[in-house]
Amino acid sequence: MPSGKGELKPEVKPEEIEEESEAKEALESLREAIRYHNYRYYVANDPVISDYEYDQLMRDLQALEDKFPSLVTPNSPTQHVGGEPQDELGSVEHPEPMLSLQAAYEEEEVANFDETCREELSLEEVEYLAEPKYDGLAIELIYEDGSLSVASTRGDGETGEDVTENIKTIREIPLSLISEDGRPVPERLVVRGEVYMRKDEFQEMNERRAEEGKDPFANPRNAAAGSLRQLDPKVTAKRPLRIFCYDVAEVEEHGFESQKEIMEALPNWGLRVNRDWIKTCSGVEELIDFHGQLEESREDLPYEIDGVVYKVNDLSQREIMGTRERDPRWALAYKFQPLRGSSRVKDIQVQVGRTGSLTPIAHLEPVHIGGVKVKRASLHNQSEVEDKDIRIGDKVLVERAGDVIPQVVKSLPEERDGSEQKFTMPDSCPVCGDNVVISEDKQQAYCTNASCPAQVRERLIHFSSRGGMDIEGLGDKIAEQFIETGLVESLDDLYRLEKDDLTSLERFAEKSSQNLLEEIEESKDQTLPRFLYALGIPEVGEHLSRVLSSQYPRLNDLMEATEEELQRINEVGPEVAKSIVGFFSNPDNQELIENLIEAGITLNNPLTEDTESPLEGLTFVFTGSLDRWTRNEVQRYVEDKGARSTSSVSSQTDYVVAGPGAGSKLDDADELGVPVLDEEEFVELLQDRVGEEEFEANY
Ligand code: IVH
Repeated sequence: MPSGKGELKPEVKPEEIEEESEAKEALESLREAIRYHNYRYYVANDPVISDYEYDQLMRDLQALEDKFPSLVTPNSPTQHVGGEPQDELGSVEHPEPMLSLQAAYEEEEVANFDETCREELSLEEVEYLAEPKYDGLAIELIYEDGSLSVASTRGDGETGEDVTENIKTIREIPLSLISEDGRPVPERLVVRGEVYMRKDEFQEMNERRAEEGKDPFANPRNAAAGSLRQLDPKVTAKRPLRIFCYDVAEVEEHGFESQKEIMEALPNWGLRVNRDWIKTCSGVEELIDFHGQLEESREDLPYEIDGVVYKVNDLSQREIMGTRERDPRWALAYKFQPLRGSSRVKDIQVQVGRTGSLTPIAHLEPVHIGGVKVKRASLHNQSEVEDKDIRIGDKVLVERAGDVIPQVVKSLPEERDGSEQKFTMPDSCPVCGDNVVISEDKQQAYCTNASCPAQVRERLIHFSSRGGMDIEGLGDKIAEQFIETGLVESLDDLYRLEKDDLTSLERFAEKSSQNLLEEIEESKDQTLPRFLYALGIPEVGEHLSRVLSSQYPRLNDLMEATEEELQRINEVGPEVAKSIVGFFSNPDNQELIENLIEAGITLNNPLTEDTESPLEGLTFVFTGSLDRWTRNEVQRYVEDKGARSTSSVSSQTDYVVAGPGAGSKLDDADELGVPVLDEEEFVELLQDRVGEEEFEANY
């Protein structure tokens, strides 16, 4: 059993190794080092080598395994990639039942719980370990001789589904245990925990899915569950899954005396626990305090939780208390009030998107949910309105989760008085009156008039947005005015506007007209990726625009690309390829592009000119304010130099750049071990990459 960390960076030159015995030794030391660095990165949140050095170790290991395939072991760190698809998921009987938890919603129930524990144990005071109740999927991992042998879902508590191959793709879950504190790796360990998705990674994944024309997942929990129950582990491998461990079964085998001891031992075997939010508490006041603190931090946590769990800390006391039917008597889940509220649907109106898609929106009587006033909720499509039987006038249950648009969960038909009205998608567009086409499954409806003022307005807003032509002064209101007055009927009209056109509009003074015209003029000098995004090609978001620009140096090349050719790009599937080709083969779009170029738009492509992308491959997150740039400016600057800039910190982030007023992103950076730069350090990095002269010339 390998233990300890061995060398941090064993010097292995795969190309020079010819003997199997030598290869064996080198493989062993590489794997040992990588396991240790996985522990430093995922569990201790304190990496001791750079990502580059880590990748180098993985590359050496992979190269050596390719050269000596007979020496590949099932628990080698290269084996996180996902094996062959399966026909079905087998079943696994849990060695001990996976129990559920008794749930409480009121303080009084917490007091009763504490009282019962004290009485049963004949103690004045009982010590508990309190931790978050994660909103993910319960999983059991069985390690034999230190290697992950079986992983299963909870199922009915007795028997779960075999998800071993899928679990093995999660990098945060070690394929082999290590021994960090001298406590030997046990012969057999049955550990339980929650597999989940971080909120930011969930959102990024959904954005990616939308770009690929796939349906988004409703929430991180569904996404985690759906990802783990895949038949093809290669699909799971692409999903950002993570784990928090919280329990050990067959506990008597290990000589543990308390839950706290378990939670201290797990990380030292390489298993991730959530150290930030584990607390020993005694007495009702401390229990409730912990719940309050977590509820306050709930929105800021990078993962979703729906309450807290209290567990009697002392394992012999647990033994005395025993288990009811399905839940242990020594534990309690004190849940948060759900982020739900009830309201009434005043009206259902149809919104027209930039591609002409029609979305029914419920206009609600305002209701406060978790501190936010909710007035509107998306109903997605007609089929959903019918499935949920939501009528105008209905009392409904509304749910708000994270940053997404509030959802109507269900209607309450028992509250109806007969005056409610069913909704049907109109057969003509509510804005332009043109024909509406509804798909057979009633999941999509479109206004077919490409010049529909609502569509043009949405396209104009998208065109000018930050990720697109970046015309800051052109927001929703002004776009509306341009459309209403007929000043803009097509996007290229923007470049024909004159000062008199603007000053004739309401609330447009001389100065603001001048400013807007200057911004419009400046937007003519544009990059290809931004222009592509600005065009609003269905399924093509900011990320894909960059991918396309990195493959096609000039717009004309892309306009002529075939579906087959496009699909050769890793991130372009059949739907997306079809959408791109469809867009460019439409004569209206060809004319629009021609007119825009004629109006003076020039395109440069920073992604195919090497010298122009000195920040290629880096991902930045900015927080707080900087002296030299506004947030928009700095994001645009790094993006134009080939880097990515995202709004939340993840394991993909290379640097967090923080100025005065930085917020919780610093904690996220700390938790994930992402380096934080202040403005001066950031400038040094830029000077280093961009070149000092070039940098000073521009700033
Ligand atoms: S302990 C008897 N700890 O809650 C102990 N469970 O209702 C049972 N859960 O399906 C598990 N966070 O998925 C435990 N910190 C936590 C938990 C937790 C979430 C879930 C778990 C299980 C359900 C039990």
